[in-house]
Amino acid sequence: MSAELKQTARALVAEGKGILAADESSGTIKKRFDSINVESTEANRRDYRGMLFSTDGAADHVSGVILFDETLRQSSADGVPFVNVLNDQGIIPGIKVDKGAKSLSGANGEKVTEGLDGLRERCSEYYDLGARFAKWRAVITIADGIPTDYCIDTNAHALARYAKISQECGLVPIVEPEVLMDGPHDAQRCEDVTTRTLQRTFTALYDQGVLLEGILLKPNMVLSGTECADQADVQEVAERTVRCFRRVVPAAVPGIVFLSGGQSDELASAHLSAMNAMGPQPWELSFSYGRALQAPALKAWGGEPANVPAAQAAYLHRARCNGAARSGAYTADMEPAAAV
Ligand code: 13P
Repeated sequence: MSAELKQTARALVAEGKGILAADESSGTIKKRFDSINVESTEANRRDYRGMLFSTDGAADHVSGVILFDETLRQSSADGVPFVNVLNDQGIIPGIKVDKGAKSLSGANGEKVTEGLDGLRERCSEYYDLGARFAKWRAVITIADGIPTDYCIDTNAHALARYAKISQECGLVPIVEPEVLMDGPHDAQRCEDVTTRTLQRTFTALYDQGVLLEGILLKPNMVLSGTECADQADVQEVAERTVRCFRRVVPAAVPGIVFLSGGQSDELASAHLSAMNAMGPQPWELSFSYGRALQAPALKAWGGEPANVPAAQAAYLHRARCNGAARSGAYTADMEPAAAV
């Protein structure tokens, strides 16, 4: 079992490749579709995601895709199970297994991610359906007086429980403690909170006997809050993020796969590239982007079958840019706007 976990984790951070997060919950995909005035029906979700999964050439830059429960069980419009569509291209199917961030009792607006009940049975079923890795996202908010240790520790404990159960079922757990970028805080505050969150998360993983060689960490980058007047530039973000992780992420972890968290597509590529340009680190530095891979494709698609080629081209472009960022080779010249 542990050999398979290590091999899957390594394959997900193979050179030049990263992960597409396409596991939006029913509520989140509805929000995305609302933004392009498309109704969130099962057929529309199938058509949109099927378009991404069947994009020619994306597999050169995409090692795995995180799916939502519905999608793991779904087939393309011409009847091919999505698991097969992905496997046939050498893309590893993954599955979101958490049940969302819920209000943390006794806390002042903080959240805890739920979904541990019945998790072992669900993970076993997901393995049988073809998933080989899993995702669980915890949310940490920065504001006056928060995050509390209570919130960080409760989420860290649940992340470790999830990680251990996933590994028992043969799924590589992606451990995602996301420190949100919303707020007026500066990059130093983000660095402090991210450091504390990761320290406590790794303590919980270690205490619960999680095999570190068989996980991937999916964190936020160290950024200035969205409403901070003094925004850290690309180089500062890269230096703070790498410094933070070198202090708290054990070298046994094969890869760090960042979330994009609301950064623009281009900044998400630039930040990752700047980090990789700093030279080799103990772990691979890669991506597991949702919005930063999908946003231009979603817009180009707009629910119209005639727009599929343009949408696929937009997705492939972002996949290529982030693939280049894996080796520090992304530059703004790669963007179409640079050619105008
Ligand atoms: P974003 O890259 O849009 O943050 O999504 C990644 C993800 O999977 C969040 O859980």
